[in-house]
Amino acid sequence: MIVLTGATGGIGTAVATALADRGEHLVLTARDEPRLQALAERVRALGGSAVVRPCDLRDQDAVAELAAYILAEDGVPEAVLSLAGHSIHRGLTASFGRPHDLVRLSGTNMLGPATLILAVLEPMCAAGHGRIVAVTSAATRIPTPAWAAYGSSKAGLDTWLRAIRPDAAAHGVGVAIVEMPLVATTMAAPTYGAAPRGALTAHQAAQRVLRALDSRRSLISPGWARLGAVLSQAAPTLAARAAGAGGRAAQRLSRRTRQHRQGQVR
Ligand SMILES: NC(=O)c1ccc[n+]([C@@H]2O[C@H](COP(=O)([O-])OP(=O)(O)OC[C@H]3O[C@@H](n4cnc5c(N)ncnc54)[C@H](OP(=O)(O)O)[C@@H]3O)[C@@H](O)[C@H]2O)c1
Repeated sequence: MIVLTGATGGIGTAVATALADRGEHLVLTARDEPRLQALAERVRALGGSAVVRPCDLRDQDAVAELAAYILAEDGVPEAVLSLAGHSIHRGLTASFGRPHDLVRLSGTNMLGPATLILAVLEPMCAAGHGRIVAVTSAATRIPTPAWAAYGSSKAGLDTWLRAIRPDAAAHGVGVAIVEMPLVATTMAAPTYGAAPRGALTAHQAAQRVLRALDSRRSLISPGWARLGAVLSQAAPTLAARAAGAGGRAAQRLSRRTRQHRQGQVR
């Protein structure tokens, strides 16, 4: 049995349908129950099986209840795929007076996922096998203007997972992190448009998650992100400026591409 958070999202849905093709039994979670039910139907039609367990990861009590319910009703997971996430693109001056952005993103991207993983890790470690795969961001280790709340919440989960990995491995449980680059889903759309140039498709992103699930790799990350992480350590201010400039250029490019496409349609 595999627990999948963020199941209703672009990448989560692609992962769920790929696992359904393999005949897996899935525990699907996110907040939107009707969408979870529709996805579960799709999973069954493809040859897998699924139950839905709606939960808001920002609610710590609800997450504790979710973990207890899964363990009681569905059993000890063979794997947890932690894909739930929320992003906010907002620069410093626009963030003044908005400390709730930090609360919201740390709840969804760090505290909720870590609380769920911690609760199910105990019986997984006792069983002596299993796998945790979490999707963070390729920009996690390259602090970037306007992504402060998002990047720091993803970095928190990333650091926590890196720190527990050796102890989990000693109990037979593998921990893998997928540092995801830009993917054309509803998450990326408000900042980069519906089909940003150079972005992965949800299917391509799902393949990275499946590679992390199936292999013994502990980190799947683009080469540019690994290089960026080193540069961020060597020259932090310069690297953050360059990352910010790169992000603005990507926004301009996607705006121009959108205008070009609209021009062609007219
Ligand atoms: N798209 C990108 O460019 C990109 C790049 C790097 C990393 N990532 C990461 O990849 C993962 C999947 O993203 P995606 O592109 O598939 O985004 P998406 O389509 O927006 O999906 C986000 C998923 O997270 C769930 N979610 C959001 N807030 C939640 C909450 N409070 N409690 C429980 N579930 C919640 C959503 O379901 P409900 O709304 O039903 O709760 C949805 O299933 C995320 O962790 C994201 O940070 C994405």
